[in-house]
Amino acid sequence: MILMLLFKPIKLKNMLKKKIEDICNRQIEREGFSSNLYIAMASWAENNGYSGVAGWLYSQAEEEKLHMMKFIKYINERGGKAVIPAFKKPDSEFKTVEDMFKEVLKHEEFVTASINEIVALTLEEKDFNTHNFLQWFVMEQVEEEASVRTILDKVRLVGKNNMYQFDRDIQSLRTPSASGQPTT
Ligand SMILES: [Fe+2]
Ligand SMILES: [Fe+2]
Repeated sequence: MILMLLFKPIKLKNMLKKKIEDICNRQIEREGFSSNLYIAMASWAENNGYSGVAGWLYSQAEEEKLHMMKFIKYINERGGKAVIPAFKKPDSEFKTVEDMFKEVLKHEEFVTASINEIVALTLEEKDFNTHNFLQWFVMEQVEEEASVRTILDKVRLVGKNNMYQFDRDIQSLRTPSASGQPTT
């Protein structure tokens, strides 16, 4: 206890500015919400007999959790304080698989805009470390959007006549990302 009272974290010279810390904390909420949203979608797919779609979404949810973790660790490493927020409840009902993936794309576009906003702020604030940290996310968003667009094309082409085939093939639509980890 006494030790705890005496412990004062060393102030880093190159500490995160408050503005950058806040916007990175906002991104923790967005990545964490993405993870929960995809779990909710996976659960809906599972309950409706689409085990392939569910598998794809469960894997994607894991990746979104890793994105959240990257922000948490980065903020703390730079002398800031990562805050784990409450997440709003995601939708749990979807009309069709196609409608659901349209929502995934809309959500990914929102996340891309959010990442770009942080990139813009790092330039304004001349925070080149955070700017560099974000480059991985910039590329990740390009891949994620492209991959969801491919799925939407496939669901329109194949899924219209044969949802069984679409559901079976969707797992093979995951491509390795730049980091070597599987991604959307
Ligand atoms: Fe993400
Ligand atoms: Fe994503």
